Amino acid sequence: MSGRGREEIWPRPRSCRVISVANQKGGVGKTTTTVNIAAALAMHGQRVLVVDLDPQGNASTALGMERDDQTRSIYHCLVEDEEIRKLAKPVPDIPDLWCAPATIDLAGAEIELVSLVAREARLKRAFSAYDTSDLDYILIDCPPSLGLLTVNAMVACDEVMIPIQCEYYALEGLGQLLRNVELVKSHLNTGLSVSTILLTMYDARTRLSQQVADEVRSHFGDLVLRTQVPRSVRVSEAPSYAQSVMTYDPMSTGAMAYLEAAREIAHRAEGPGVG
Ligand SMILES: Nc1ncnc2c1ncn2[C@@H]1O[C@H](COP(=O)(O)OP(=O)(O)OP(=O)(O)O)[C@@H](O)[C@H]1O
Ligand SMILES: [Mg+2]
Repeated sequence: MSGRGREEIWPRPRSCRVISVANQKGGVGKTTTTVNIAAALAMHGQRVLVVDLDPQGNASTALGMERDDQTRSIYHCLVEDEEIRKLAKPVPDIPDLWCAPATIDLAGAEIELVSLVAREARLKRAFSAYDTSDLDYILIDCPPSLGLLTVNAMVACDEVMIPIQCEYYALEGLGQLLRNVELVKSHLNTGLSVSTILLTMYDARTRLSQQVADEVRSHFGDLVLRTQVPRSVRVSEAPSYAQSVMTYDPMSTGAMAYLEAAREIAHRAEGPGVG
């Protein structure tokens, strides 16, 4: 990776940072961000677990998780108290990166969880039972909703990272997301904050992308990573090869941007945060 090589080791956090990647708006780059930030961190000396909390299972697919009817997934962890350690699998070709996969059963979990005790804290409970001393990061890929799965993620994490697509309507729904973070913070997880905002699918050719980026930056200041991820065909191709773009085409503009974004995250203290 041209000089600033993969062999470079970034500082490890004192204890495992648990980060939910959330935005109830669909298709804004949550999964792409989770997968590629996780891969970039793992390629720079961090030990990383991706938790796929989306019934679509896109993060699991992008990380090459093979699944069949028998696969134990994060569903079994939430609903049947299965240990995360038992279902997390190593990601092919990227040492120190693990994935707790999603299966389609998870689609029913929003409803099944309703009748369970401490339904908002099932994932937190699973993390508590898991010795995270051998991990530096847990990244949780949330589904595009503010339902019980996303609430479970927010109760189980310390930080929320919000990807924002540099498109029209990008900011729509953001207020609702931030209010939800506030609610979870005041009732269920006092340690929660929005630590990071990442601008995704930035298109330098359009004035709109620049306008959205400017607006987000003026509103959220230092929460917004300096790096913005450009729209890049290689980024969108990578999942169909069951890969992150970090391994599929490490020299592409998208991979370079995710590398820089991950570097910022690794070098950042947990920051002031909002929420
Ligand atoms: N930087 C990028 N350049 C080009 N395409 C991108 C980029 N980031 C994401 N995409 C594509 O945009 C689509 C949506 O991205 P992604 O699946 O990461 O969003 P999401 O927020 O996880 O979606 P969902 O809400 O359905 O879970 C995907 O097809 C992805 O490949
Ligand atoms: Mg997704």
